[in-house]
Amino acid sequence: MNSSRFLSPAVRTLSAFGGVQTAASLAREGALHHPVLLHLNECPYPPSPRVIEAVSHAVASVNRYGDPRPGALAALIAARNGIAPAQVLIGNGSDEILGLVPQMALGPGDNAVMPTPSFPRYRLGTRAMGAEARMVRNLDDGRNDVAGLLAAIDASTKVVFACTPNNPSGAPLPQDEIRALVQGVPEDVLLVVDEAYYEFDAAQGGIGALPELRSRRGPWLSTRTLSKAYSIAGLRIGYGLAGSPEVADGLVRVKLNFNLSCLAVVAAEAALSDEAYAQGCIAKTLAERERVSGLIEKMGYRTLPSRANFVSFDYGPEAASVMANLAAQGIFLREWRDPGFEAFVRMTIGLPQENDLALAALAKAA
Ligand SMILES: Cc1ncc(COP(=O)(O)O)c(C=O)c1O
Repeated sequence: MNSSRFLSPAVRTLSAFGGVQTAASLAREGALHHPVLLHLNECPYPPSPRVIEAVSHAVASVNRYGDPRPGALAALIAARNGIAPAQVLIGNGSDEILGLVPQMALGPGDNAVMPTPSFPRYRLGTRAMGAEARMVRNLDDGRNDVAGLLAAIDASTKVVFACTPNNPSGAPLPQDEIRALVQGVPEDVLLVVDEAYYEFDAAQGGIGALPELRSRRGPWLSTRTLSKAYSIAGLRIGYGLAGSPEVADGLVRVKLNFNLSCLAVVAAEAALSDEAYAQGCIAKTLAERERVSGLIEKMGYRTLPSRANFVSFDYGPEAASVMANLAAQGIFLREWRDPGFEAFVRMTIGLPQENDLALAALAKAA
């Protein structure tokens, strides 16, 4: 008997996402006392004290389900972005929202056009629906190839993904290229712009995709997260800003009813209420990224331009084995693994002492 008959043909094409180590999994294993976690682009600073207080207070009420579509949080996010609350969808991380897009839009015979290397959810979510993930290689500086993305669109394209600043490279899309994307993606195709690192770019003068997206005639969605700049990755809150209520409502049709923990919602409101704290974390991270990038260049590795809370560099063919070696010592960096880019390593900007430990280990391994 074939014991995996329950796997659909689409799901058979996916590999199990296993083995990523997190602060929580390492603590459970109990083997490493002070692991240096620079592989998940988390914020190294704890959340705002307001978050800790709000969550502590709310925990007494967790016998009740949360709100399937939390209105106050959506209104807060809507007001900050000059958009109607009906066009905001809150997700269990932006990962959830990016995963809902293929569920809403794609089926066998369809395709989604997306950059590579980039965030894996676009291709995994697309393939899980039996649709084709049409991947367009980034330009040499690591930014999405807008002309290439537009050229890959055909009559079966339902969704186009872009990512700015792009993970794992760090490069943002310049405004004129976002405009070309907004104008060039056909009006019956959903344009999704993943802006998980928006706040870091904005702190350096970037204005993000929204100003251009607002002028788009066809459907669009921008996704953002509170996992990075707002220090609540473990609570899981991301959101989508949609071009119309129809896009937000389409995503609601496929989401789980109670997708959000009520603690996460309370935490998100508190985190967004303490912008000064978030800006402090961002400023420290950006200053440290400059220092770290300079040291990596000094070590002789070419860094890619980054506007996010990480820096990637060309380490060479030994990247995977050296990173495995470092992980065994409790220092976690992330080799890209994407075909053709195996030599690249991404380092999240952590606390200065963590970054120094990682750089010293890299120097020793060279
Ligand atoms: C580009 C990009 N998009 C989306 C996400 C998902 O983040 P979250 O689900 O924590 O909001 C990440 C996380 O690393 C990311 O790098």
